[in-house]
Order: sequence, then C-alpha cells, then structure tokens
Amino acid sequence: MNNKTFLIGNWKMNHGIAATTEYCQQLAELSTGLKKTELKIAPPFLSIASATSVAKESQLQIGVQNVHWAENGAYTGEISCGMALEAGATFALIGHSERRQYFGENDHDVLRRTRAAMETDLLPVVCIGETLEEREAGKTDTVLRTQLEGLFTYLSSDEAPSKPLILAYEPVWAIGTGKVPTLEDITDTHRGIIEYWKSFNSTAPCPPILYGGSVSPDNFGEISKIEEVAGALVGGASLVYEKFSKLAEIAEG
Ligand code: PGA
Repeated sequence: MNNKTFLIGNWKMNHGIAATTEYCQQLAELSTGLKKTELKIAPPFLSIASATSVAKESQLQIGVQNVHWAENGAYTGEISCGMALEAGATFALIGHSERRQYFGENDHDVLRRTRAAMETDLLPVVCIGETLEEREAGKTDTVLRTQLEGLFTYLSSDEAPSKPLILAYEPVWAIGTGKVPTLEDITDTHRGIIEYWKSFNSTAPCPPILYGGSVSPDNFGEISKIEEVAGALVGGASLVYEKFSKLAEIAEG
C-alpha cells in the first residue's frame, strides 16, 4: 500500500442529523490518533453541516455524495460545489454506481461534475466499475476504459488544474452484496487502470485508486496489502463504529 491510506465512508441515504452528530463525535476522536490514514466520510447532504461542525478540530474530513457542475440555477434537487465548500465539505463522491444505475448519470455528467469540483477545490473521488454481466462477458477493462477516457483526456490536458483526484474502483456486483473479487482480480484491474493512465500521461503518476465493494474488517487486511490499492471506499461497514474503526486500525498497519 502507498504511504497514505484513504478510508472513505459512503453513508448513502443513512444517518440523519442527530445520528450523524453522535457518530461523528466518535469518528472525530478516532481520527486524531491516526498517523497514516486519511479518514473521510460522506453523509447525506442534510447532515453535512452538523458533521463538519463536530469534525472541525479533528482530522476527520467531510464530503458530499454528489455535486452539480453549475454554480447555481434551476437544478431541483442538486447542490453546487460552492455550497458544499461553504458547508465545510472537502471532497465529493462523483459517479457512484448507484447514481449511474438509478439516476441515469453518464460519463459526460461525471466529467462535468469532476471538472467543477476541481475548479473549486473540492477533491473529486470518481467512481468506476463494471456490472456482473459485463464482467462475465470479459468486458471489464473495456468498460473501465470507456468510463475513464474523457476523464483521463481532461486530466492530461492543459485545462485541468494541477490538483489531486482520487479514483475508486467499485465492481457494481460487489457493492452491498458481500461478494468481493479475488485479490488477483483487484490487482489486475488496478494495474490495468494504471496502464491506461500511462497511455495518456507518461510523466505524472496515476491518481490513487481505492477499492470499493463489500469491504469489511474480514477482507480489508488482505486487500490493503495490494501495492496498487490506495485505500477503500466503504458503504455498509462505514455505518457502524465498531467496523469502521476496525478498518482504520487495519489501514494504520
Ligand atoms: P458497500 O458499498 O461497502 O456496502 O459494498 C460500497 C459503496 O457503495 O461505495
């Protein structure tokens, strides 16, 4: 694993304001003892302000689960990067498979959201991944390359500000199912992404790539040892302190 390990909790549509405040107090405390792990959580929009106020003095970073590309305007149900920053968020999940699957997000939207985040100092955590059908048809690499093509073109152009970005490889069939690819498959896929990056940019290193999909204290020990894995994007196991703190302990090594 790299020097810095990212552990990002995606709470999805879980934990309202009261539950967030209580849980964040524990996580804020946990974060202060971490030496090599960047602990981040993405609560629902309504809980962001309470999360950031609790996390203020700690190393716990708060992010949003999505962000729009416009600064403001008639986009019912969306929030802008400026609003997220004002609420104290430091990063944004973009292109999560649930957004793609249930809300019709496509690669073009993902790119627009990513550009807006980078232009306003929100760290984008861009999610990619194949469905089971695509995997079984041997199309994983092609699917990932299609999802990444526009993004990598942008990142290696003069237009892109030189700011960090994180990728999260999350096989759709592994999310919330308890199924996890083999360590060899995770390694190969992450290597494939790095190879693809090199075909765009031979000088800059590939952005860090997290693994996501049914990460738990039972499997993270092995997954986190993979050189090409820079950390994890965690759904279910990030909702419970006992599990998430255990993951942080594993990340610390
Ligand atoms: P999971 O979700 O850990 O519950 O599989 C991961 C994610 O959706 O980011």
